[in-house]
Amino acid sequence: MAETKAPVSLTSGRRNFRRRYVVGILVLLASLITAFVAKNGADAPSVQDYYGSLESRLGYWLLLGNTRHCGLYEKGQISPFPISTAQRAMEEKLYSRLGLEPGSKVLDAGAGSGYVAMYMARKGLNVQAIDITPHHLADARKVVTKNGLEDKVSIDYADYHDLSAFPDGSFDGIYTMETFVHADDPVKVLSNFYRLLKPGGVIVLHEADFSYNSQVLQDILRLSHCQNTLEEGGYEELVANAGFKDYSLEDLTDEVLPMWRLFGVVGYVPYQLFKLLGIHYRFTNVMAGVETWLHWGEGRYISVRAVKP
Ligand SMILES: C[S@@+](CC[C@H](N)C(=O)[O-])C[C@H]1O[C@@H](n2cnc3c(N)ncnc32)[C@H](O)[C@@H]1O
Repeated sequence: MAETKAPVSLTSGRRNFRRRYVVGILVLLASLITAFVAKNGADAPSVQDYYGSLESRLGYWLLLGNTRHCGLYEKGQISPFPISTAQRAMEEKLYSRLGLEPGSKVLDAGAGSGYVAMYMARKGLNVQAIDITPHHLADARKVVTKNGLEDKVSIDYADYHDLSAFPDGSFDGIYTMETFVHADDPVKVLSNFYRLLKPGGVIVLHEADFSYNSQVLQDILRLSHCQNTLEEGGYEELVANAGFKDYSLEDLTDEVLPMWRLFGVVGYVPYQLFKLLGIHYRFTNVMAGVETWLHWGEGRYISVRAVKP
């Protein structure tokens, strides 16, 4: 008999969130103490440093259950709950933009803890997941095994700047979910993607670009190892120069706002406190959440799609 799942109610979503928020505040206060002995936040951390920090580990776990991407909401929606439903909607958006048949082979470049890869696998795609952050890879292996999807999702350590382990034309599709923003050399990464795709293969990138590079934004990007994030309009040229055709862009900024508003509201009080103490630069994610919300409109959340001829 088919198993039926009880729908996640808005109230239980809020209750769960409130519990996590209280734990989060306590943990942030504990992190405050840690911050005094942590590195001074003035440098340029590596991807692994950024995701390995206590703040990132706790923040992503508490707020997003380790799925490290935005949710997709109806335009004009206020409530960000249930967050997981909105995150599945974003994964569905990416899946539908790929437009691939079941059985197609895709590369998840920067798979994190593997939740997007599992969504694609459940849709019938065969996923090669790669990442460079050791604890994300360990998480991904655990959740993929727990969900019995080992046959559909392979997980390996690989840096998307060096994909020489994969032969030309290995994939029907390649996607990034909030990962390409970390690239040190976006041109090289796209040329790797191009080589790995079969003719007719597709890339879909769910990423951010920015129309206004304020000092605070530059600081946030540097502290989260996103210093090469493209300016608004930059993707089209980059993708065309790499040889792709049929470029299309969907602007999803309005549809991710409920989640960023949540980050802004939740982080506002701790952020002001950190600012008073002059240690806000040590809390990259709190700073990013609040400042992005306060400066909403200076950047976009976009879905880019293009095809290898
Ligand atoms: C914001 S997380 C997104 C994770 C996942 N796509 C998701 O939606 O949950 C970005 C991920 O990209 C990975 N990453 C960053 N630079 C990378 C690189 N050069 N090669 C492969 N993965 C990378 C990080 O380790 C991290 O797991």
